Amino acid sequence: MSSGRKLLIRGGRRIEGEIAVQGAKNSALPILAACTLCKGRCEIYNCPRLSDCDAACRILTSLGCACKREGNAVSVNSSAITSGEVSEKLMREMRSSIIFMGALLGRCGRCRMSFPGGCEIGSRPIDFHLEAFRRMGAKIHEEHGYIVCTAARLHGAKVSFPVPSVGATENVMLAAVLAEGVTEIHNAAREPEIRDLAGFLAACGARIDGAGTGTVRIEGVKSLGGCAYTVMPDRIAAATYLCCGAITRGEILLTHCDHGSLEPVASVLEQTGCSIYSFGNDSVYLNARKTLKAPDLIRTAPYPGFPTDAQPPIMALCTTLPGTTMFAETIFENRYRHVSELIRLGAKIKVEGQVAVVEGVNRLSGAELEAGDLRGGAAMVTAALFAEGTTKIGHTCYIDRGYEDIESCLKSVGADIRTV
Ligand code: UD1
Repeated sequence: MSSGRKLLIRGGRRIEGEIAVQGAKNSALPILAACTLCKGRCEIYNCPRLSDCDAACRILTSLGCACKREGNAVSVNSSAITSGEVSEKLMREMRSSIIFMGALLGRCGRCRMSFPGGCEIGSRPIDFHLEAFRRMGAKIHEEHGYIVCTAARLHGAKVSFPVPSVGATENVMLAAVLAEGVTEIHNAAREPEIRDLAGFLAACGARIDGAGTGTVRIEGVKSLGGCAYTVMPDRIAAATYLCCGAITRGEILLTHCDHGSLEPVASVLEQTGCSIYSFGNDSVYLNARKTLKAPDLIRTAPYPGFPTDAQPPIMALCTTLPGTTMFAETIFENRYRHVSELIRLGAKIKVEGQVAVVEGVNRLSGAELEAGDLRGGAAMVTAALFAEGTTKIGHTCYIDRGYEDIESCLKSVGADIRTV
């Protein structure tokens, strides 16, 4: 991935103000894929303007769906779907395009797509997805780097994952909603985005119980209609902006956010000494205008544990807190790619396998950095807000995959940030 754009950030300014949190990328993507299951028109609101969502829309168009975006609303009509095939080029644009597999299998009885392959944060296998589809009656084979799945009609099955997988849970839900009979997913992922996908599917006529718990039960129905649905707020973008507030010892009010799903991150921020209050249904206020200290241990885990996606920005914060923090990354094997870049700014971090030890320093100083993945890029932006002088961050296309106009958001709360 390459991009000529760079973010230029002059650090040292306190973040103060209000940010309206974008819609959740990790909800919008499976919901867009789910639209292929519906015969009527789906109106998706609060769909973030991100390159990954654009890639999902291109996939929908290539399948024969009518897909139109107006601002943050995307309308999808899948009644004339013509193909169950996703080209290699489109698969490469977005790793999570694998989420189309369950939906296409459910809708067309056949799908063909290239292996998503490894990616920047780890090998990310899809064996749980394929094994579950087999149990539901799909025949799967590989040809010339493509996976071909066929099933005249899928049937319900009992599926149990060795570890909770967000993508596999969603993919099986998508395959199961139109399958014959009942599907039960055991050791399902409990992430809030799974509840959101179930909410969308239920609005289209699907029968799903237990989404957001470890056991999800889906009773297949004959067909799904269209609906209007609003995507939940993005808890990782919210967590990132809270880290930006905290690292500049500032104050930030997030609106349009879901504080329940932010709890694992909010409790770590409270351990650092930040005050966090939630207001009404959808606002969270953070005050970091005080002496903060390093939390002892941050261990990533499936929800409701600490989210792996928030590990890089919170690590950026910890590099500036007095004391030592140990990180244990239990989800992905290559999730410390931002460490070498944070060290360039003067951070003190040692990595051994899945463990990273961060010793807080008083001072970071601006440098030239390169984002190597989405959340690692967000960590660099967070650290740059604290660093003295100017930090230039390249390969910002990674950041655009998950943050809707991060530059304007941060500028609006006082950051000195611009694109060159
Ligand atoms: C999703 C999120 C990603 C987040 C991750 C973990 C989306 C689009 N992406 O990714 O932002 O970081 O959840 O919260 O929602 N695994 C297997 N075999 C499989 C599937 C998964 O071994 O077939 C393993 C993975 O290697 C990983 C663990 O299961 O160690 C969890 O991964 P998973 O929850 O599937 O992540 P994604 O759905 O890819």
